[in-house]
Amino acid sequence: MTALIPIMGDGLPQPLLDLLGDGYQIFPWDETEGSSALVNSVGVITYGHPRVDGALMDRMPNLKVISNHGVGVDHIVVADAAARGIPVGNTPGCLDAATADMTIALLMASARNIVIGDEFARGPEFTHYDPSILIGHEVTGSTLGIVGMGRIGKEVAKRARAFEMPILYHNRRRDEAAEAELGVEYRSLDDLLRESDFVALNCPLTSETSGLIGREQLELMKPSATLINMARGPVVKTDDLYEILKAGRIRGAALDVTDPEPLPRDHPLLTLKNLVIAPHLGSASHRTRQRMLEMTVENLAAGLAGTELPYRVVVK
Ligand code: DGY
Repeated sequence: MTALIPIMGDGLPQPLLDLLGDGYQIFPWDETEGSSALVNSVGVITYGHPRVDGALMDRMPNLKVISNHGVGVDHIVVADAAARGIPVGNTPGCLDAATADMTIALLMASARNIVIGDEFARGPEFTHYDPSILIGHEVTGSTLGIVGMGRIGKEVAKRARAFEMPILYHNRRRDEAAEAELGVEYRSLDDLLRESDFVALNCPLTSETSGLIGREQLELMKPSATLINMARGPVVKTDDLYEILKAGRIRGAALDVTDPEPLPRDHPLLTLKNLVIAPHLGSASHRTRQRMLEMTVENLAAGLAGTELPYRVVVK
């Protein structure tokens, strides 16, 4: 019997399993030495962690396809897969809107003290309306800096326009089409950090963006500014962010992703009131997650059938 391994706890819903055809078994992820699931697997569904590299692939001699549930493939060494002739699929496009929604949600939550206000409104200290407490940063008209003007960055810009925000962006390459369409202005990273009230990280994790935001960059930000990380944890140096937030050097941060992820439960970052944090929810809406699953299985089915993946990751 041929096997495939989803890392996902609950496995796949039946209608999607039906897409694969008969004869496949689902195994939970098991990396232990000599695991027959690894040896027998013809396909693998991944998401986020763990790292899928050549060493792991070599322990899966029957592997025909790696299908990632998500767009970011920083945890997969795609070049190792290519060297072994194993196609890698992902789910581009379908999650841009949901992730942009969440970028704005975190921005708003931080700017307007939603989380801390929620706690206060439930607690014993809220006995009367007090117009002097929890005054936030007005979002409308504030300057947004977007790092990464890809599909998600553009969706964030569209939403920010409704808040009448001047929008700056930094990207590997200038994008004149986006400038014309969305009215965004290109800046060097340093200038973007200096000028923005909110800095949203919407770039992929690559060797160029790993550790992109550390103490030096955070110190360029306005004291009243907020950092939003919707990219990947390692884009920001965690210890530097902690020190900067603790010192009140910037107004706050809102993180959907962290390094490591999750943070150890006793990590000092988690004690800070000027931090809003979410458990990697960028694409977590019912509609988007359903479409991601469908695309994941479409890629898997194609790889198992030996045909071109509909959404294949190209090695650059
Ligand atoms: C992605 O698509 O990369 C999201 O982070 C979900 O994992």
